[in-house]
Amino acid sequence: KRVAILISGGGSNMIKLVESMTGEHAGRAVVVGSNDPDAGGLAKAAAMGVPTFAVDHRAYKGDRAAFEAALLEPLLAAEPEILCLAGFMRILTPEFVSRFEGRMLNIHPSLLPKYPGLHTHQRAIEAGDAEAGASVHLVTPELDAGPILGQARVPVLPDDTAETLAARVLVQEHRLYPEVLRRFVRGDQTPVRLTAA
Ligand code: GRF
Repeated sequence: KRVAILISGGGSNMIKLVESMTGEHAGRAVVVGSNDPDAGGLAKAAAMGVPTFAVDHRAYKGDRAAFEAALLEPLLAAEPEILCLAGFMRILTPEFVSRFEGRMLNIHPSLLPKYPGLHTHQRAIEAGDAEAGASVHLVTPELDAGPILGQARVPVLPDDTAETLAARVLVQEHRLYPEVLRRFVRGDQTPVRLTAA
């Protein structure tokens, strides 16, 4: 299956996804795109031999539909069958989502349905949660709300800051997303449940 990945920054999750698609894996990374031409992940994707593109959202000054029309062009040119959002920080319109609904995944750094949106780790700490983690879900028009395909749990430690918790969660994201994708490309939506090793 042809897999496209969208990033906004360093792309650590994208790197793990691309690295996982080798050998008998039914997925193949066909393109990595970004809303930021300076996203560090673009160079890393190119170094792994994956074609890349960037459409700078700042060039569309809040005209979300125009930005998405520009993004769709190189994206659809790669003829993706599955779209993975990985550290992609733009909210997509329902029209864009509907084009990929059922075959578009996202990773969110919380145990959804808790803490959709931003600052998830700070919110978990402030709530006194004993656990935190990440979720991979199918993308639907409602933000961070689609069916969950996998979750990874980590303990929240007494002296955790948002940064230390984020680092612990990120390690699990890098295990979770590749495992969810490996199953998803084979049509297996059995939820993945990981706990910190
Ligand atoms: C990660 O916390 C991920 O959960 C969120 O974006 C952050 C950075 O991801 N979606 P990456 O390193 O760019 O993959």
